Amino acid sequence: MFRTSIIRQATRAAVRPSTSTLTARTSPLTRTRTFTNLTPLHDKVSPDDPKDETRHDKFTTAATVDTGHEGTASRTDDSFRYEHPDDESELPASKPVQGRGRHLRTLASFSLEDKVGVVTGGARGLGLVMSQAMVVSGADVAIVDMNKEEGEKQAAALVEEFKRENPGARDVPKVTAHYADVSSPDSVQHALDEIIAAHGKIDNLVTSAGFTENFPAVEYPYDRVQKLWGVNVDGTWLFATGVARHLMERRQPGSIVMIGSMSGAIVNVPQPQAPYNAAKAAVRHLASSLAVEWAHAGVRVNCISPGYMLTALTKKILDDNPELAEKWISLIPAGKMGRPEDLMGAVTFLLSDASGYMTGSELRVDGGYTCT
Ligand SMILES: NC(=O)c1ccc[n+]([C@@H]2O[C@H](COP(=O)([O-])OP(=O)(O)OC[C@H]3O[C@@H](n4cnc5c(N)ncnc54)[C@H](O)[C@@H]3O)[C@@H](O)[C@H]2O)c1
Repeated sequence: MFRTSIIRQATRAAVRPSTSTLTARTSPLTRTRTFTNLTPLHDKVSPDDPKDETRHDKFTTAATVDTGHEGTASRTDDSFRYEHPDDESELPASKPVQGRGRHLRTLASFSLEDKVGVVTGGARGLGLVMSQAMVVSGADVAIVDMNKEEGEKQAAALVEEFKRENPGARDVPKVTAHYADVSSPDSVQHALDEIIAAHGKIDNLVTSAGFTENFPAVEYPYDRVQKLWGVNVDGTWLFATGVARHLMERRQPGSIVMIGSMSGAIVNVPQPQAPYNAAKAAVRHLASSLAVEWAHAGVRVNCISPGYMLTALTKKILDDNPELAEKWISLIPAGKMGRPEDLMGAVTFLLSDASGYMTGSELRVDGGYTCT
């Protein structure tokens, strides 16, 4: 344990020059803070006399707040703020990505043919790309989003892309768009009724609607905490229970994939985001708890926990805090952020019969971030 944390600290310290300075953006809301003195650990160790029994003591006595030592790289930084826009349409739209490829062979058990899948937050980002993975794999899809106009545009774009890639195809997937505020029970029920009326049934669900914000906990406006938990946790709960109820009434099996985050297992740095981290831990454990509760009915529940993926959400945070990208990437063993497409295989696997004996599991798609 001690060795692992030393290696981790040394690695983090080594990724930046010892005199490097990371200055957070200045705004009326923020105060500027500077990180300095990140001396690589080996510089400190090498000159020591190996016979000196006390030579390691400095590693347990350096932890004074704001003095600039190895631990600084593993702290949240109160000067980071990111307030999610109340109007979701302020964030830029996504585009359909790669589709079917050229008749490559794969296991039939990965097919989603004859399935109807619902994707919350499907108008943009990870939700949109996962919707596309489902369409490519043969499913009909209902995109649910607060931004219905964008959902409708993207539903049409997914069908167009499918037709372009499959000229002359007989079974063109049905893709519909539905409004819901996932944090509102009435709105969720209304959307579920609308989807069942349009598609006749629901087999699969992906809960991707969610957002993050950055405020130090002691300054985090409570109404924003409630909103964040409302969308990330209540929204997941409401859609999952609604779809499970429908599957149980039909006495049919189904698969639910909850989009958590690596933040459910680790604490991101430097941006402070305690409520988001807790929300994603809740999502991960909801997946396990509901998997156990619904296993008897053949309703599987799993969780995908992405690392840093480049979407409208993270692009906005990086636009506001340009220095953050370097910091994030320095902490990812793969050395790069993920692309939304990196989730296409994971979601198809978990929704399909290929993962028929998996329930209550978490797939981390994070470039190795949580391994260190
Ligand atoms: N992007 C990342 O790096 C990353 C990493 C880990 C986890 N995640 C999680 O993945 C999910 C998708 O993130 P993204 O990056 O694609 O975000 P995004 O902002 O690009 O897309 C989120 C979508 O959810 C919709 N939405 C937001 N609030 C809603 C509400 N109340 N009701 C209905 N729809 C609502 C938005 O309109 C938007 O279309 C989120 O749960 C996020 O926490 C993202």
